Amino acid sequence: MVFIRLIIFAACVTATPAADNNPREHLSPTPSCGVSFTAHPAASTSGLVTCPSTVPAPSSNARLRIEGNDAEGTIFEACVVAGPREVTTQSGGTHKCDGTNARANHKPGTVPTVQLDAAAHHTGFSYDGTYDPAYEDYFITSISTSTQNSAQFWGILVNGQFTPAGGCQFEINGGDETLFAFDALSKDAFLKVMPDFAVAEAGNGNVTVTVTDSVTGGPQAGVQLGDVYTDVNGDATIPVPDEPGCYEFKGTRPGALRSNTFYLTVVGTFISA
Ligand SMILES: *[C@@H]1O[C@H](CO)[C@@H](O)[C@H](O)[C@H]1NC(C)=O
Repeated sequence: MVFIRLIIFAACVTATPAADNNPREHLSPTPSCGVSFTAHPAASTSGLVTCPSTVPAPSSNARLRIEGNDAEGTIFEACVVAGPREVTTQSGGTHKCDGTNARANHKPGTVPTVQLDAAAHHTGFSYDGTYDPAYEDYFITSISTSTQNSAQFWGILVNGQFTPAGGCQFEINGGDETLFAFDALSKDAFLKVMPDFAVAEAGNGNVTVTVTDSVTGGPQAGVQLGDVYTDVNGDATIPVPDEPGCYEFKGTRPGALRSNTFYLTVVGTFISA
């Protein structure tokens, strides 16, 4: 599926954060189409999405992605500011969630479940989880309309790997990428597209991306991105569209967890400085 939306070139493209009842948490600034421009692009570029480190530790502004069930698709994918706090779920009640749970760390930090909590409050989806006092952590049971069943559960990965500790125990940093994945234990791969973004000139040539499994690092063939598929090396050749705009691609393959978004900004013409 290819989404197209208008892109605006401006210094500091930032959405106004929603009204905040917890000043430690807000959405944005999230780069528009994967990257923020301070001037009209003059040449093709590509790279990784980064979140501006605008918040002091122990809070973090970091990437969070939530991939729901097949019916729901991607629930959230953006930078989110979050920090140590108490969280409340309907099934689990209110408890601290700051990395010191079960003495996992000495000092409070930002953990996946507070990132989830911040995204939920600001985007308007709900989530639920049971709480285990012995483990001092939540077990996430549903996010938005993607609810666990007897065979499909939620899993948490950071930087492409399953976390060795729970969502209130594993501390993340600003450069980390957190992923909540529905039916995580059944997936044969966790698709990762590189680079995260590219900028190209309308109708001019191709952009090549590479898809791997974030867990093993191995190249992934047969992954669909828009109208093209990856080859045995995990490479897909995407023809640059003729119309300027922001094009978003998710890599998909039956049985695998859908990828991060690849953002392709297409400009009419590059303008030299
Ligand atoms: C773009 O890719 C197509 C298909 O692989 C190829 O035929 C074409 O020569 C490529 N164009 C450029 C400019 O590399």
